[in-house]
Amino acid sequence: MIEMRRTLLRMAVLLVAIAAPTSWAADSEIGKSLYAPCVACHGADAAGIAAMNAPALTGQDAAYLERQLKYFKSGVRGSDSRDLLGKQMQGMAALLPDDAAVANVAAYISTLPQTTGPVAVDHDQRNGEVQYNASCGACHGPGGKGNSSMNAPRLAGLDAAYLRRQYENFAEGIRGSHEDDRLGRQMQMMATMLSTEKDVDDVIGFLLSQ
Ligand code: HEC
Ligand code: HEC
Repeated sequence: MIEMRRTLLRMAVLLVAIAAPTSWAADSEIGKSLYAPCVACHGADAAGIAAMNAPALTGQDAAYLERQLKYFKSGVRGSDSRDLLGKQMQGMAALLPDDAAVANVAAYISTLPQTTGPVAVDHDQRNGEVQYNASCGACHGPGGKGNSSMNAPRLAGLDAAYLRRQYENFAEGIRGSHEDDRLGRQMQMMATMLSTEKDVDDVIGFLLSQ
């Protein structure tokens, strides 16, 4: 009986090991060279370039970056016919040949220091904070700093146009509708929580101030 339990335990541990997303150690040095074509849009410091519609990547954990890059590669993100910017990023993710390349570039980006926040906008800070805490903070963490245990990315540090576009993409089903996008579907439901345009503006303003 005890022997059987030991065998089962060993099998369970083995299964977890097989299921682990990366069985190799990601190499941020290799990732640095893979990041070269990304500089044109996301910047050498990965702070994002608003004129290219390319968001900041710093401050996101490697797991989120890897997931999004795999989504772009496999068409989970960016396949909706209305999602022209997502489609553009699909082409860029295709430059990363395999899972190891994705893990290496994500590891490199996650070594880059958090850049200073984007330009603030006029908004009602008090309402933004109240709405954020009521509808978003449980997953995205205090001040939008992200919460990897909820798979929820960092929102602080992203520019206003990107935040608005992603929120609306979820609300309109442009992002998160793919059958393999379980987390995106969850976020689609959350993108109905802010009931007025003003609330969306104020939450974005609050996030820019963090
Ligand atoms: C031609 C410009 C361009 C290049 C080059 C480019 N990207 Fe992007 N990237 C974008 C745009 C635009 C978006 C936002 C897409 C959207 O609005 O959904 C994006 C989004 C992303 C995201 C999702 C960020 C998030 O918060 O969800 C990641 C990760 C990413 N890019 C990584 C990379 C990497 C790694 C490379 C290099 C292999 C790269 N990008 C090259 C334009 C570019
Ligand atoms: C139940 C948890 C949960 C709640 C509540 C939630 N989110 Fe999210 N959100 C997520 C997850 C998970 C993702 C990442 C989805 C993915 O992996 O593609 C996400 C992604 C996002 C993104 C895209 C970020 C990027 O870098 O592309 C934005 C913007 C966003 N959420 C805004 C909000 C706002 C605003 C609220 C409050 C109205 C909110 N979220 C509430 C879980 C949540």
